[in-house]
Amino acid sequence: METLLSRRAFSFFLLYIFTFYDLSLSFSPVDNYLVNCGASLDSTVDNRRFVSDSSDSSNSHLLSSAQTFSLCAGTILLGLPQIYHTARVFKAPSKYVFDVKDPGMHMVRLHLHQFSSSKLNLGDSQFHVLVNGLVALTNFSGGNLVGPKVLEYLLWVNSKKLEVTFVPAKKSKFAFVNAIEVISAPKDLILETAQSVNGDKVENFDGLNKQAFEVVYRVTVGGPKVTPFNDSLWRTWVPDDEYLKSSEGSTKVYFAGRIKYQDGGASREVGPDNVYDSARLIQSKNASIPKLNLTWEFPVIEDYKYLVRMHFCDIASIALGLLVFNVYVNGHLAYKDLDLSAVTNYLLASPFYADFVVDADHSGVVTVSVGPSNKSMAYTVDAILNGVEIMKMNNSVGSLDGKLPAELVLKCWPRRSVGILLPLIALVCLLLSLSAIMRRRKDKVDSVPWSKLPVDIPEISPNQGKQQLSSKV
Ligand SMILES: *[C@@H]1O[C@H](CO)[C@@H](O)[C@H](O)[C@H]1NC(C)=O
Ligand SMILES: *[C@@H]1O[C@H](CO)[C@@H](O)[C@H](O)[C@H]1NC(C)=O
Ligand SMILES: *[C@@H]1O[C@H](CO)[C@@H](O)[C@H](O)[C@H]1NC(C)=O
Ligand SMILES: *[C@@H]1O[C@H](CO)[C@@H](O)[C@H](O)[C@H]1NC(C)=O
Ligand SMILES: *[C@@H]1O[C@H](CO)[C@@H](O)[C@H](O)[C@H]1NC(C)=O
Repeated sequence: METLLSRRAFSFFLLYIFTFYDLSLSFSPVDNYLVNCGASLDSTVDNRRFVSDSSDSSNSHLLSSAQTFSLCAGTILLGLPQIYHTARVFKAPSKYVFDVKDPGMHMVRLHLHQFSSSKLNLGDSQFHVLVNGLVALTNFSGGNLVGPKVLEYLLWVNSKKLEVTFVPAKKSKFAFVNAIEVISAPKDLILETAQSVNGDKVENFDGLNKQAFEVVYRVTVGGPKVTPFNDSLWRTWVPDDEYLKSSEGSTKVYFAGRIKYQDGGASREVGPDNVYDSARLIQSKNASIPKLNLTWEFPVIEDYKYLVRMHFCDIASIALGLLVFNVYVNGHLAYKDLDLSAVTNYLLASPFYADFVVDADHSGVVTVSVGPSNKSMAYTVDAILNGVEIMKMNNSVGSLDGKLPAELVLKCWPRRSVGILLPLIALVCLLLSLSAIMRRRKDKVDSVPWSKLPVDIPEISPNQGKQQLSSKV
């Protein structure tokens, strides 16, 4: 700040340059792995290079079981980046292992797009995904995918490695992935404390940064879609229209000026300019304050907690101190008389966000609302919202998808190979034991004629695995 101030003395032009461009230096994560799965070549998307998982230069290691192979879409998928044209397919549990140089919160993104080739239809996949000890996905069916999907997880990594494990749901199924991102998150992305909103009680929720999250909604309010190209952390923010209950009585606003990020406030990594420069608002144009809330509704899954992050930036008021309103989460007053000027150090167009933790109840939705409070004023803006993120939090068994902890999900995979061998061996065992029992009955003195059942059935050899596969596809 000091240096900025001294620059101010030199010229307005310099101030312009330095405040605009010093602050917009892009975030450079310590851990930054982008993997182009199943591809033989690297591929660049929005200036980011996804490294082929087959090349030696890739610094993430695929701990390949012999039962993985790469698949290439037979045809050009029009309009889709190259990373969605290839996939790595797993016929048995397999993992990618990434070195973690910077412990702490990490973002993991899985890119999934089902295509079919003459060999295989990715729509026939069914699988589980684990990230270190976290269950990220269970029984996920590629057949339910419509277009490319990016699943994003945030988790605290304490170890030197981050492992992403794919487990086919059964022997007859397989897992796949088109691309993986593993990125260290900025330190200020998830803070330690949020406000837990439980009925009319609002209290501290501590240890927020040690939870794992799946980002289920990331919404920019009142503006067009924000693509990874325009986001400091390469996120996508979708428009809010389909979540807004009613736009009646509200206005959209767009701001062409500069968003003023401040130290200690929401940073550009928390939300990019393109999210803060649009909003919806309730405005009173005459002496009466509208009796109205603006409400957004997000379908969620019962029995999980959700982190609700609401983004605000006063891009609409003509002066400081005029915008005071209430914030509700699930119909409960979560932030009373939010005075945006006060929380942004008395600066307009400066971003602010608030984190709330809520339980998803049987209503099946999380709702967020903003509306005038008793302190709202006539002839001013009386409520505003610029963005919302809804993140599912891991449950008590460390899962984001179901009631099974990671160890049990791994155990779902039969440890020994089944194929035709197992039934056959089972039959042999049965016959052997039957004959043994009969023999024992005949002659109890006879010492054990056989003691070692063939417990260890050999794993399928790589070649057999491949043969099985090719006969399958
Ligand atoms: C990035 O944002 C600008 C407006 O801020 C927009 O004109 C441009 O189309 C966006 N680019 C992409 C790739 O989304
Ligand atoms: C203020 O304007 C609203 C519509 O914008 C109208 O419904 C209301 O009656 C007006 N109130 C007064 C006091 O004029
Ligand atoms: C706004 O929503 C809150 C919470 O649901 C409710 O208590 C309040 O009455 C609503 N205000 C209006 C004007 O509907
Ligand atoms: C999420 O998992 C951690 C341990 O990994 C646990 O301490 C925490 O309580 C879990 N969160 C919830 C909401 O159950
Ligand atoms: C997958 O679905 C099957 C059938 O519904 C269920 O028995 C199994 O427990 C599920 N697996 C996991 C890991 O949740």
